[in-house]
This record gives sequence, structure tokens and C-alpha cells, in this order.
Amino acid sequence: MEESSAFARRAIERKRDGLALAAGEVEAFVRGYLADDVLEEQMASLLMAGCIRGWSDGEIDALTRAYVASGRVLSFAQLARRTVDKHSTGGVGDAVSLAVVPWVAACGVPVVKLSGRALAHTGGTIDKLETIPGLRTALSPEELSSIVASVGCAIGAAGPELAPADKRIYALRDRCGSVPSMGLIAASVVSKKLAGGADAIVFDVKVGAGAFMRTRAEAAELARTMVGLARRAGRSAVALLTDMEEPLGTRIGTGLEIVEALEFLRAGAASASDARFAACCEAVASAMLSLALGVPDEQAVRMLREARASGAALARFEAMIRAQGGDWASVLRMAPCAPSFDAAALRAGYLVRADVVGLGELAREVVAAGGPLAGLQVRARIGDRVEAGSPLVRVHGGSAAHALRAAELFEIGASAPPPRPIVYERIG
Ligand code: URA
Repeated sequence: MEESSAFARRAIERKRDGLALAAGEVEAFVRGYLADDVLEEQMASLLMAGCIRGWSDGEIDALTRAYVASGRVLSFAQLARRTVDKHSTGGVGDAVSLAVVPWVAACGVPVVKLSGRALAHTGGTIDKLETIPGLRTALSPEELSSIVASVGCAIGAAGPELAPADKRIYALRDRCGSVPSMGLIAASVVSKKLAGGADAIVFDVKVGAGAFMRTRAEAAELARTMVGLARRAGRSAVALLTDMEEPLGTRIGTGLEIVEALEFLRAGAASASDARFAACCEAVASAMLSLALGVPDEQAVRMLREARASGAALARFEAMIRAQGGDWASVLRMAPCAPSFDAAALRAGYLVRADVVGLGELAREVVAAGGPLAGLQVRARIGDRVEAGSPLVRVHGGSAAHALRAAELFEIGASAPPPRPIVYERIG
């Protein structure tokens, strides 16, 4: 104990002074911490020193390896096909996983998706799925495997057996102010994806007012770090930098986002699906498919459009929901709940900015008050011309006061801002 305490102190001092630690030292530090030989305050000090000094690739690789080694690593080798997973760094109205998982599976690539719950103002796929009566997300690795073998895809909750060191260290970072460190975020995210066992991983790194990464430079650095980490660990990986200056889809909530995905997968209804949401789904799904199959992007897009138009993608969504115990008839009946109140534009002009964090927080509050079919429906997009009194957002299951608050979350100006793409950049 004394010996490991001295080892930890020396490592902290070297990190404090700007020297890089050897991979073996980083791994021993994490092992010691899990065994309670390295003290809580020593781990906190090392994390803070790294937060200030930054981390080398070698240190972040070692940290990731130590996180992965602390728990179970899933394997889907018995499927005898390359599996693919995707990860979003978190957004508002981001129901992309719900749409792309069955869509990619309908093109013949097994998708094993491990998801999380809502974090801060952003939504969580598991919370959304759990609004479907009967549906289970606490799936054992064996259940995940068997569902993927029979229907081609599954979405499970990332359980405590995956990278438990990350869970303990994340909680410590949260208490000690060392969450916002690029290397630590990358190791935390990528270790869970590596433990999830997918052969190929697409990172959807959100950038903008509603994202954790506010600037493109920050988002690109995180994307490069995560792609590098995953590749050095032997997985195929790419990252897309996608826009989060406004809610992605038109629904913000839990059950309402299931409706968003369903509308998108109802192929013929291409016109009913929001263009920005559809474009993001296609970009993420084609990256997943081309990475897993090694086909060019244009071919992946053709395959995806066919699978959507033929109804195969929707059929795969139904099969996945049923296989996880969900009541499909209830999914088809899902609709926004009453009462509804419109947030009206406070004056005429162009929509120039949305407080996306505010909208995400408001939606969580409305869902907490009104239940899974409560939430927000976005009715105007940035760049739109609006008149005083035009509806901006419809609040379902909340109150008139919620609608008034929603109206204040939009900035209206004299001229339209320049249009923004959905995908800013692809890395890897
Ligand atoms: N999400 C994670 O899983 N880990 C981080 O460090 C930050 C966001």
C-alpha cells in the first residue's frame, strides 16, 4: 500500500511537471485505484494534472485499455459477420439511432448498439425506447447476440459490466471538475464502444449551440482522438461532425422521438420526414454501411434508399421492437398527448438563433410533467421568415407557461443567417 502510494505520488508529480507517463504506469495507476491501493485523492490529482497538461496518444491508449480491461468485453464472433455500432456525442431531437439501427440492418449488416440515458439537456436512446410498453433494454450479452442473430439488430443499455473503471472515474471527474478534458472524454467514450464488441464504429460528433462541443475546432479534435483510439485498438472507425445549432429532428422528448423515427422509416412518407433529420440519418447510416462492408459511399446510399423505399427498414424496426418484448401495436398508436399550446413568435422577422440547450431542458421538464408522449414539436427552422404570432414550437402535454418560455428561446432578426450544412466534415 505504502509502495503503491509512493508510485502514485511520483507519477502525479511527473504529470504535474508536464512529462508523459509510460503506458505501463497509466495502466498500473488505474489497476491500483480499482484495488483501492491508489487513493481517491491521488486519482483525482492525476486526472486534474492531465486536464491541465493534456494527454499524449500513448497515455490515452493506455487509459482506454485499462478501462476496457476492468470489465467484460463482448464478442459477436459467432455471428461470423462484421458488426457495426454508432455513437452520438449527444444532441437535442437526436433520434438518429432509432432510425439508423434497423435501416443499416435491413441492408445486411448486423448492428449491435449499446446506448445510454439522457445526459444534461440531451436525450438518451434508452429513455426513448423504454416508452414502448413491454420493451426491454437490459439485455444480457447472450440475449443481444441471439436477437441480432435472428433479426439483425438490437439496442441494449450499456450495462455496468462494461468498462466499470470508466464509471467510477467518470463519477470522480464529475465531482472534481475534470470532465472537460479531450483525452479523458475520448477514453471514456471509446472504451465503452470497444467493450461493446463492434468491429466498426461511427462517431457522430455534434457541434454547435446544443452540443457539448461548441466549436468545430473542438469537435474535430475530439473526433480525431476517438477515431485514432478506436483504430489503434484494431477497429474500423470514422467520425462525422454534424450540426447541432438547432434541434435535429422536429420532435424533442422521449416517446415523441420514437414517432420521429417511425415517420422516417415509413418510406413512402419521405415528404413527411424532416429534411435535416433525414439528411443526418442518411449520412450516419451510409458511413456505417460503407465502413462495415467496405463499399463506396454512393453504393451504401443506394442500398439504404432501396431498403427504405421497399419497407424493409420499417419491417426491421418492427422485428427489433418485437424481439425486445415491445408492443408494436402501441408504437403504431403513439401520438403527441393533449393539451397542446403553441409558442408564438414574439415579432416578425427571420429566425436567427435557437437556445438549443434551453429547448432540451424544457422538453425534459415537459416530459417529466406530462409523460412519455409529452414534449416539444418544432414548427419553424433557423432561416425561416416568421410573422408575429406564427407558431415556433408546439408544446404537448405541458402548459401555456411552458409555451411562453419556449417562445423566448428563439432569437428573431432582420435578415436570415447563412444556411448551414448537416455534415460539416468527415474524419477518417
Ligand atoms: N460521455 C462519456 O461517456 N464520457 C465522458 O467523459 C463525457 C461524455
